[in-house]
Amino acid sequence: MYLLFSVLSFAVIIISINKAIDYFSFVTIEKQMMEKADLGEMSFREVLSRHEQEVDAGQMEEVARSALETLKASVKEVRIYDSSQKLLGLAVDGIVINNKTPVIFPGNIQNALKGNYAYTVSEDHLLYFAVPIQDKYYQNSYVYEFVEDVSYFYTMMDQIRYILFAGAGGFIILITLSSLFIARNTTKPIKYLLGATESFSKQQFREVHLNRKDELGMLAAGLNRMGIQLSDYIQYQKQFVSNVSHELKTPLAAIKGFSQYLYEGEDEDEELQRIYFHLVNESDRLTRLVNELLMLSRFDKAGQDGIDAEKTDLAQLAAGGAAGLRAKADSKGIELTIRQGPPAFVNVNQVLMSHAIANVLDNAIKYSGPGTRVSIETLVREQEAVVRISDQGIGISADELTRVQERFYRASNAGGAGGTGLGLSICKEIAEKFGGHLDIESQLGAGTTVYIRLPLL
Ligand SMILES: Nc1ncnc2c1ncn2[C@@H]1O[C@H](COP(=O)(O)OP(=O)(O)OP(=O)(O)O)[C@@H](O)[C@H]1O
Ligand SMILES: [Mg+2]
Repeated sequence: MYLLFSVLSFAVIIISINKAIDYFSFVTIEKQMMEKADLGEMSFREVLSRHEQEVDAGQMEEVARSALETLKASVKEVRIYDSSQKLLGLAVDGIVINNKTPVIFPGNIQNALKGNYAYTVSEDHLLYFAVPIQDKYYQNSYVYEFVEDVSYFYTMMDQIRYILFAGAGGFIILITLSSLFIARNTTKPIKYLLGATESFSKQQFREVHLNRKDELGMLAAGLNRMGIQLSDYIQYQKQFVSNVSHELKTPLAAIKGFSQYLYEGEDEDEELQRIYFHLVNESDRLTRLVNELLMLSRFDKAGQDGIDAEKTDLAQLAAGGAAGLRAKADSKGIELTIRQGPPAFVNVNQVLMSHAIANVLDNAIKYSGPGTRVSIETLVREQEAVVRISDQGIGISADELTRVQERFYRASNAGGAGGTGLGLSICKEIAEKFGGHLDIESQLGAGTTVYIRLPLL
């Protein structure tokens, strides 16, 4: 596109230069001819004054002959006409010629008789230049026309044009080659750097290196340093969360056990009973959170094959898992539809996969109102088994859709519904651990559909 534009502008420049050359060369040649015409006119007038008697006697042929003798040497051809455009005399290559009828351009002669210089260039590059000559009464009574061969001038212009076009052609080729070279030399590393930033944004850190010393090389080195720092920082953060979770695990178990004990042992004071119940609930919630955090940190540490997997019918696993949440749906007045679909064998860890499916279904129920419908079904697509869970709940806005899969992110409309914001990030990690994906489609106020996609065995 850019190249086309530069070639086009070049073409415009060349055409204008070409026109300018034409124009200025004609101006030059006109000037030369006019000087010649002035000289001829002077000589003609001299002849007229010398032959005043013949003029008065109307012996114009005589006068013309005399004028031809004077003028014939300086140009290729001379013609003399009278006021009625009649050819009075003709001399070619310095020789006066009688009885010849040469090619005449009447427009030229008519124009000259009106008192102007006039010229025409014939196809064989002969220039016919007509000059008005006044008699003693200042009337334009004669026309002196000379013919010059200007083909040398056309040859010269052609040569100039040839040089111009050859130069421009060479220039365009050079420009094209150099811009291609520049484009290749700059866009390729920029694409490489773009790819690096994209994988950084997915938290995949890899070495970024460009073997060059210019700004792009420096940028690559800067990106590389940034990647290392980010990766270290994230690693540190994960380690920290993991350590804290571990430290919390034992005291939490104790708190949970004691509060359970207190709650069960108290059957007199209702106020105390309510407080103990609250304690049990909160310690349950904290235990769940700590367990989820520990699960995430186990994922972070485990390599690609760090987790056991076995051949599993996803359709059966999903239907079984969903049945466990029916009571929760019923209690909220939500109609839960479970469609099992044909067997779909995948390679997963059953405990983790049930956990992921239950988590997504739990969201669907949690973020939907009574009287709505939640459905779960397993489909088999090309090379893929898909668990689809859809609801008619509050939905997620488009700008938050990608963020809800981040750890601890809760969408702005989650509001009163309790939660830690870890559920979906765990589901995503579980799906990805077994070579799958988690996709979410949602419309605010209309509902959400989550797809857990796994490669078929
Ligand atoms: N089906 C859904 N409908 C509407 N919003 C949803 C749905 N599923 C998830 N969300 C939004 O995504 C956010 C993240 O979900 P996620 O399951 O990770 O966390 P959570 O449900 O808030 O807490 P928990 O860790 O207890 O699951 C939720 O806070 C909610 O705003
Ligand atoms: Mg959740």
